[in-house]
Amino acid sequence: MITDYELLDSQLRALLENEPDALAAAANFVALLYNAMDDINWLGIYALRGDELVLGPFQGKPACVHIALDEGVCGVAASTVETQRVADVHAFPGHIVCDPDSRSELVVPLVAHGQLIGVLDIDSPTTRRFDESDQSGVEKLCETFCALQETRKYFI
Ligand code: SME
Repeated sequence: MITDYELLDSQLRALLENEPDALAAAANFVALLYNAMDDINWLGIYALRGDELVLGPFQGKPACVHIALDEGVCGVAASTVETQRVADVHAFPGHIVCDPDSRSELVVPLVAHGQLIGVLDIDSPTTRRFDESDQSGVEKLCETFCALQETRKYFI
């Protein structure tokens, strides 16, 4: 299955535009994307809480709850505010194993009002699962999600 990121973007807008609750919006964002991508075993949000990332809405197996900003793929994505597309998690120094099935990972920073609010983390059981089009497609969806977050009184 090739993910149609343009279609997903319009579905995301339709799903979130009139939803004032940030938590509900984040939960539906995650559920929409999880069901639109194949060959993934975990997808979810880690929200920035002070100086750490804390587990938010997700789909998949229970995962680690607290991630320091200098830890793991998520911590690097958050502290550099740059997407991390990791072809082989075993080759990434400091990778945090939550689901031992995970082999590759895509982590996109979530930035609203110019500030980091968290990261979106996607894991696959297949090495090199994510290509450049997945990265740009997911980054665009995260931009849409964050732009809609800016209309709310509070963030995730
Ligand atoms: N692998 C991540 C941790 C989160 S889980 O994959 C759900 C990391 O290294 O930051």
